[in-house]
Amino acid sequence: MKEDQLINHTIDFVKGELKNAEGGHDWFHIERVYNTSKLLLEHEKGDSLIVQLAALLHDIADPKFHDGDENIGPKMARNFLESESVAEKTIEHVVNIIKHMSFKNSLERDGTRFSSKELHIVQDADRLDAIGAIGIARAFNYGGFKNRELYNPAVPPQPNMTKEEYKKSTAPTINHFYEKLLLLKDKMNTETGKKLAEERHLFMLKYLEQFYKEWHGKE
Ligand code: ADP
Ligand code: NI
Repeated sequence: MKEDQLINHTIDFVKGELKNAEGGHDWFHIERVYNTSKLLLEHEKGDSLIVQLAALLHDIADPKFHDGDENIGPKMARNFLESESVAEKTIEHVVNIIKHMSFKNSLERDGTRFSSKELHIVQDADRLDAIGAIGIARAFNYGGFKNRELYNPAVPPQPNMTKEEYKKSTAPTINHFYEKLLLLKDKMNTETGKKLAEERHLFMLKYLEQFYKEWHGKE
């Protein structure tokens, strides 16, 4: 099958799966990660088909909305790619990327972790969508979905939470900036990703400054 046709089938499949997804994690998130991945590919070496498929399929079943099951997404991606008669080697690589994408997985320190240039590209694109203006919008959208406070000066951020604490946390959304979003710039894999993260990072700092100014009723 032609690559273009496979990509189009994948887009249709993902759109269908994400029809009822929450606003920070919907088709448009996938589209942004897909477009940013292609932008990164213009400057970074990587297999274009693998990168495109992994970008499109990386969030089809978020464990947060599937009782914490981290295997459903990779399984659904594999089934789909098999139904499209994609080569096993390609499927394996794409599925490995999906399994290793998340922030929480990347925090685990088992030396045997899977890694590839293609993973680095898609992971950077996903992280870029979590910071900057879009990242801010997504964080407050998620916080609203979970009925979190915007900010509470009496609840200090905890930047070194364990995986379990992080999952259970009901902290205000502003804390999420210090617990995750402001840490992402230093986790970027590729040079191009680092450059793109810089501007978005500065924008978040500026945003927080303005937020506190308004919160405290200052001019
Ligand atoms: P992805 O799967 O796209 O890598 P996540 O599933 O971790 O990202 O989160 C989706 C979006 O929701 C991100 O923009 C993230 O910053 C935001 N988010 C996740 N957890 C929280 C939280 N505790 N408070 C506010 N926003 C959150
Ligand atoms: Ni994502």
